[in-house]
Amino acid sequence: MLRCRFWTSVPCAVAAIVASYLVLFAAPQRASAQPAKPVSFINDVAPILKENCFACHDTRKKSGKYDMTSYEKLRLGGVNGDPLTPGKPEQSEFHALIVTTEQRRMPPRDKGEAVPKDKAAIVNQWIKDGAKLDAGLDAKADLVKELRVRWKPPVPPKAYQFPIVVNSVAFTPDNKFLVVGGHHELTVWDIAAGKLVKRIYTRSERAHGLAFLPDGKLVVAGGRPGQEGDVRVYNITAKGKAEDGVEVLDGVNDKAVLVKHLFDVEDSVLCLAITTDGKTLAAGGCDRAVRVFDLSGGLDKATLTQTVENHADWVLGCALSADGKYLLTAGRDKTAKVWDLKEKQSVVTFPEHQSIVYGIAVKADGSAGYSVGADKQLRTWKPSGEGKGVKNAAGHSDEVFKIVANPKQPMLATSSADKTVKLWNMDTLAAGKSLSGLNDHVFAVAFSPDGEFVAGGSYDGGVVVWKVSDGSTVKAFNASPGFVVKVDPPKK
Ligand code: HEC
Repeated sequence: MLRCRFWTSVPCAVAAIVASYLVLFAAPQRASAQPAKPVSFINDVAPILKENCFACHDTRKKSGKYDMTSYEKLRLGGVNGDPLTPGKPEQSEFHALIVTTEQRRMPPRDKGEAVPKDKAAIVNQWIKDGAKLDAGLDAKADLVKELRVRWKPPVPPKAYQFPIVVNSVAFTPDNKFLVVGGHHELTVWDIAAGKLVKRIYTRSERAHGLAFLPDGKLVVAGGRPGQEGDVRVYNITAKGKAEDGVEVLDGVNDKAVLVKHLFDVEDSVLCLAITTDGKTLAAGGCDRAVRVFDLSGGLDKATLTQTVENHADWVLGCALSADGKYLLTAGRDKTAKVWDLKEKQSVVTFPEHQSIVYGIAVKADGSAGYSVGADKQLRTWKPSGEGKGVKNAAGHSDEVFKIVANPKQPMLATSSADKTVKLWNMDTLAAGKSLSGLNDHVFAVAFSPDGEFVAGGSYDGGVVVWKVSDGSTVKAFNASPGFVVKVDPPKK
């Protein structure tokens, strides 16, 4: 008789009174003369469950044999059956377990904070109203997915008070502009002038991977940490609205800008690779999987050909050989791996970093793989070999995050927590120029399509474009729109 213990307990009754009191007075719009808006299950209650309960009561964990990720399952309950008595929150174990001050609370005392009082009051009201499902919503619908679909991204501010982390950069096909991954937007900068020319608003909070297709469309991999991840394709030359001399494109709603939604998942997509012929695309991330798409029939006919699950933890980097045969991946599981996309099998595991492998690159002909990681090393090995290192190069004094191959010359660029971008000879791993000018961890690095420039982007919003031939700085700017970098006045 576990259930009785809760709804008959005095503290629980007090909590219920407090809760209804809160409903009346904490939300003034509800207490006004207008008829109260009924509590919506999907809009008001489900977000509370996602925040406080799903960690243990989803399809995977099912604590107490209870999965509540659809309305139907929520009502089925666990070992004790339906924990809801519509109309009577005080008789519902579901509510009692949230507000009880007794030992058995949900979330369990030793596992998390109690549900905030205002949130518990919403659950209380919903049960009082009949614990109903919203009209038009399928009882079997996956609530995690429904919440994701309903979520609306914020509109980026005109001017930022704080600098925005740069997670990715890409040169436009004409080498003249730099696309920078910002916060719920991509910003486009005129490199010669160091000026913001375009802002493309995106659903995604962060852009972790940027790559142009041969037709000039921009593929973006990214997401919202712990919430969602996606790969979307934008036409950044579509028409926008001019605002203070900057063109603003709505990549959230405008179909002329957001031209394709390739896929979405439940956590961030962290890496993206596309073959130069634009026919094969690979993207992977926090769900440990890399999804591979065939784009040879064009974007409209894009098809998922395989989902590669070859790592035990997040996939942080991916690269494709030019012929689309090998997929190289970097993992938080401390390995770099090679997957043969034709044979659909794992061919190499490279274990020598012995710490997180952040970034990966491949020689176009597939004859050499390059990986970088928390061990500060750049290592090269054979994608068709036995997972033994051929050579490694030290040079960075801190973790190395990204590595990219120059499209026109045998050259690699790496970016690091040591605030530099370094160039390397692809064949000998001899160190080339060390490029400075950034003042924080360098998370993003990219070569221009003509191979003559390299750009780095850092945690503090800094972006620098350098000339590859002599390491000179072409332009440096902070890529957070409207943010004014404070410079200490010179000391007298
Ligand atoms: C940290 C893990 C965890 C979280 C978070 C959690 N629960 Fe539980 N829950 C459990 C475990 C373990 C059980 C089984 C043991 C028990 O019944 O006390 C359980 C059992 C239950 C049961 C009883 C199921 C049955 O039929 O026996 C209900 C109802 C419940 N939880 C509701 C919730 C609600 C509502 C939330 C969010 C406000 C929540 N839980 C959050 C771990 C959790």
